[in-house]
Amino acid sequence: MELLKASDLVKSFGSKNAVNGINFDIEEGRCVALLGPNGAGKTTTLKMLSGLLEPTSGSIDFKGEKAKDLRQFIGYLPQYPTFFNWMSGKEFLVFAGQLAKLNRKEAEKRSEELLERVGLTNAKKRKIGGYSGGMKQRLGLAQALIHRPKLLILDEPVSALDPLGRREVLDMMREIKEETTILFSTHVLHDAEEISDDILIINAGKIVISGSLGNVMEEYRQPILQIEFESLATDWLKSIASYSFVSEVNIQGNKASIVLKDMVYGKQALLRDIADRKLPIRKFEISQTTLEDLFMKVVKA
Ligand SMILES: Nc1ncnc2c1ncn2[C@@H]1O[C@H](COP(=O)(O)OP(=O)(O)OP(=O)(O)O)[C@@H](O)[C@H]1O
Ligand SMILES: [Mg+2]
Repeated sequence: MELLKASDLVKSFGSKNAVNGINFDIEEGRCVALLGPNGAGKTTTLKMLSGLLEPTSGSIDFKGEKAKDLRQFIGYLPQYPTFFNWMSGKEFLVFAGQLAKLNRKEAEKRSEELLERVGLTNAKKRKIGGYSGGMKQRLGLAQALIHRPKLLILDEPVSALDPLGRREVLDMMREIKEETTILFSTHVLHDAEEISDDILIINAGKIVISGSLGNVMEEYRQPILQIEFESLATDWLKSIASYSFVSEVNIQGNKASIVLKDMVYGKQALLRDIADRKLPIRKFEISQTTLEDLFMKVVKA
């Protein structure tokens, strides 16, 4: 069932269209990654869905109805959340609960539940100012969940964290996605590959690719040849781009990934060529393009 539908959403700042007419659906129960490079329009999109920014044009439907005030249905964790460092974790959640219109008693009860859920029970009385980045982000998640939203929107929830903090928050998101629909933005492809069901790739304010992670990979995946040399073989690598069976050569130092039109013939021909020229080969491997390759391709295009 469709939870949210964005139709022809546009947001302009002066003459610039930060979001330039995007359309997408979010199905209930899915974990959706909004992927895109810096400045693509991720935060602007998420702020419109959360009601923090008024779209210049277009519409947002929630469960098939035109949305007016979505705040009760949506939990939002901003890209750069601010906390009151002098409050304790528990005080902050109770405060957030009351802002979300829970009464004091409900806010207390829900705060305790969520502190437990995000692993902060032991730290609940400590001042937020003394929390680590990962702890703050987990508190932010608890804050966004305080009123049991139908959709949890997280703007770059792990980008600013160290590997340990990232792991904590990703694991938490994996648990939350069992019961709440999640839309999160990231420019870290690995995170999208790890926990999302669906992906939306946005570039320069437009959605360039969307679908389930599996389908997108299936559709865009290509076999590629990865070659690595002991030393630079740039001249040869540049020269093979003119071969009729080669469609693309991406050179990075003494490595290259090569997209072939005909893998069976191409790999034989290249191997022969390498042997004839006695090039100092270290690795010759056939693999598949990754989400990262796809991302680089659409972002550069
Ligand atoms: N309040 C604003 N006024 C003017 N321009 C803005 C404003 N907010 C965003 N923009 C511009 O809109 C574009 C999209 O910005 P946005 O913050 O949505 O990108 P993003 O994908 O979230 O990037 P990042 O990965 O850096 O967070 C950028 O070019 C940005 O400079
Ligand atoms: Mg952003």
